[in-house]
Amino acid sequence: MANIAKTSLALCGIMLFSACAHQQPSSGRDAKIEARIDSLLNQMTLEEKIGQMNQISSFGGSIDEMHDLIVKGEVGSILNEVDAKRINQLQKIAVEESRLGIPLLLARDVIHGFKTIFPIPIGQAATFDTTIAYSGARIAAVEATSCGVRWTFSPMLDISRDPRWGRLAEGYGEDPYLASVMGAATVRGYQSNKLSDPTAMAACAKHFVGYGAAEGGRDYNSTEITERKLRNVYLPSFKAAAEAGSASFMTSFNDNDGVPSTGNSFILKQVLRNEWNYDGFVVTDWNSSGEMVVHGFCADNYEVAVKSVNAGVDMEMVGYSFVKELPEAVKRGDVSIDAINNAVRNILRIKFKLGLFEHPYTDEDLASSTLYAESHLQSAKDAATKAAILLKNDGILPLSDNVKSVAIIGPMADAQHDQMGTWVFDGEKEHTVTPLAAIKELVGNNVSVSYEAGLAYSRDNSKEGISKAISAARKADVILAFVGEESILSGEAHCLANIGLQGAQSELIDALAQIGKPLVLVVIAGRPLTIGSEVEKANAVLFNFHPGTMGGPAIADLLWGKAVPSGKLPMTFPKYVGQVPIYYAHNNTGRPVEGNEVLIDNIPVEAGQTSLGCRSFYLDAGWEPLFPFGYGLSYTTFEYSDIAIDKTEYGKSDVIKVSYKLTNTGNYDATEVAQLYVRDKVGTVTRPVKELKRFERISLKAGESKELSFELPVSDLAFWNIDMKYVVEPGDFDLWVAGNSQSGTPLTFSVK
Ligand code: NOJ
Repeated sequence: MANIAKTSLALCGIMLFSACAHQQPSSGRDAKIEARIDSLLNQMTLEEKIGQMNQISSFGGSIDEMHDLIVKGEVGSILNEVDAKRINQLQKIAVEESRLGIPLLLARDVIHGFKTIFPIPIGQAATFDTTIAYSGARIAAVEATSCGVRWTFSPMLDISRDPRWGRLAEGYGEDPYLASVMGAATVRGYQSNKLSDPTAMAACAKHFVGYGAAEGGRDYNSTEITERKLRNVYLPSFKAAAEAGSASFMTSFNDNDGVPSTGNSFILKQVLRNEWNYDGFVVTDWNSSGEMVVHGFCADNYEVAVKSVNAGVDMEMVGYSFVKELPEAVKRGDVSIDAINNAVRNILRIKFKLGLFEHPYTDEDLASSTLYAESHLQSAKDAATKAAILLKNDGILPLSDNVKSVAIIGPMADAQHDQMGTWVFDGEKEHTVTPLAAIKELVGNNVSVSYEAGLAYSRDNSKEGISKAISAARKADVILAFVGEESILSGEAHCLANIGLQGAQSELIDALAQIGKPLVLVVIAGRPLTIGSEVEKANAVLFNFHPGTMGGPAIADLLWGKAVPSGKLPMTFPKYVGQVPIYYAHNNTGRPVEGNEVLIDNIPVEAGQTSLGCRSFYLDAGWEPLFPFGYGLSYTTFEYSDIAIDKTEYGKSDVIKVSYKLTNTGNYDATEVAQLYVRDKVGTVTRPVKELKRFERISLKAGESKELSFELPVSDLAFWNIDMKYVVEPGDFDLWVAGNSQSGTPLTFSVK
C-alpha cells in the first residue's frame, strides 16, 4: 500500500505543473512516423485498410468470435474491453497472427474517472479550476491504461444552454470560454505530455458539433445553428481541444440545418482539416453513420459509407457499413483510394504516436497497485469540495459546535450508486463514500446523527416514509435534507421536460420546513433544477452536481466548515423550465428590460395593450434567472475594489492590463473565483451583453486583501463578423471584474 501511495503521489506532483504545459500541436508531424505509415500503406490490401477504419464493440464477449476478424485485419479498434488480460490476448492476435501485425486501439468511455469517480464534468466546470480538470483526467488515464485502455471518448465539449438536455452533465456548461479551457486541460490530462507515455490515453473531442443545441433539449434532436453561431459559440471548445492535441474527434448524432454531422464535409473537412490543420482521426458516434438512413439523408448503407468517408470520417464505430460497402465503393469510384489512404494514415498516426507498435501489451499487475489509490481518492475529494456551490446561506452554515444533533433525511444522503452520476461503467459503488457515512465519521460522538431517508429514491412518490422522517427531524437541532436526482435522470437520452425535484421530494421538503427547525438542503443532481420554492423554504442550500466517489467526505467537510464552498455555476439556473433557453451571454434585443418589467400579479385589470412597456420578458417569470452563471456564495464575503485598466484606448495588438483589489471581508479563509467579462458594444452583427474572457481562483485569509490583475490580449475580443471573418472590430467596450455574471459596474475602453 505504501508503494501505491508513493507512485500516485509522484504522479500528482507533476499534475499542477502539467495542467498548462504546452503540448506539441497535432499538426507537428513526425517524419519517421509518416515514413512508417507509408511503408505500411504500401503493403496493405484494400480490405486491410478498410479494416483499420472499423471499430467493433465487444462488451467482454467471446474472444474466439473476434479472433478471425482480427487475424484478417478487419478490425482497427475495439471498444468496451477493460480487462488487461483479455486486452493482451486480443492484442496478441493482432500483433502475432494478423499479416501485418498492426496493433489494435482499445477504447472505453472513461468520462469522469475510471474506477475513482470524479464529479461529473459539469461539476468539474463549477470549480472554474483547470488543474482539477487536468488531474481528474490524468488520474482517469493512469487507472484506465493500467487495464490496457488507451483511448477514451472524452471530453464532451458540447455547449448546452438547455438544462432539459440530459447530456449537459457530461460537458462544461453554457460558456464557450469555460468549456474551452476546461476541455483543453482535460485533453492534456488524458494524453500526458506525450502520447507514447504508457499512462497516456488518447482523447476524443466530442460530439462534433452542435449536439448540445438539440431542439427542445431532447437528445439526438435536430439543431438549427447558423454558421456564425457555430463559429462564435459551438466551435471554440473544439478548436481548443484540437490545439491541445486531442488525438481524435467524434461526430455527433444531430443534423444541423438538415445535414447530419457524420456526413457534413463543411465541419469535418473545411473547418477541422483545412482551417485547423487537424491531423488526428475522426470517428463516428455509435452507428451515427448508419443512422443517416433513419434521418432520411442516405438511402442505404452503401450511401452511408460513401457519404461518411467523402465527408471526412476516418473510422466507423460499430456501424459496419465501411467494412461491408467500401470495397465496392472504391471499385466503382464513388470513394477514391486517396480518401481511404488518408483515413488509414490518420488512424495509424495515432497508433504510432501511442507507441502501440513498440509496446502493444499492458503490464497485467499494474492495475492492483493503481486503482483507487489513496492519492486518487484525495484528488477526487478535492475536486468534489471545490465543485460544491453554495446557493443560499442565512448563517446556519457552517454548522457550529452548538449543533449537538442532526437529522439526515432524503433519498440522496446514502445513495452510493447515484452520487457517482452518469456514464460510470467501471467505478464500483462499494467504493463510494456517501454523505451519511462521511458525516458519521467526521462528527464521531460529538454530534448525534439520526437518519431517515423519507423517500427510497429521488423519483419515489410513496409518502409512507415521510412521517418517520418528520419525527426524526423534530428531535434534531438541524435538519440536513439530501435531495436531487438519481444518476439515471441525466446523461445520454435522459432528458426531462420537468426539471423540478422529482417524486415526492418537494412534499418532503415542505413537511420538513413546517417543523420550524433550521433546514439545510444539500442537492445532488445532474443538471440545473428549478428549485426556487424549495430554496425559499430552506435556511441554506448547497448544490452539488453528482460529486463522485468522494462526494460524501467533501460535503461533510463543507457542512462543518472544514472546507469553505468556492464553486460557481457553469450554467444559468432558470426559475421555470419555460424560460429555457436562458443563458447569460445572450444578445440584447431592441427591447431589453430596463427595470420596467411588470409581473402578472401587478397588471391592472383591463390594462391597455401597450401599458406594460413592451419589453422582452415573461409576464409570469420576468427576465431574470433563479441564479445567474458564475454565481456561488462562500462562508465569507468578498469585496472587489480599485478595478482599473491601464489605458482607455488600445490598438489591436495590445494587451489590456486589468488591475483590481480583492478583499476577504468576512471571517473565514476562503477562495473566490474572480471573473472578467467584456461587452463589445456595437458590431457589424449584434454581440452578447457579456462574455466571460478570463477567471482566476484566489485564496485569501479572513481580512486579507490582494492586489491582482488579469491580462487580456485585444485579439481575444475577436469574433466572426458580418463578413464571416474572425476579427476584432474597432469601437467601444465594457469590462467587468466581478464574482458572477450579474454583478459589478463596468469600466469602458475602446479599440482603434
Ligand atoms: C454514444 C455516445 O453518444 C458517445 O458519447 C459514446 O462515446 C459512444 N456511444 C460510445 O459508447
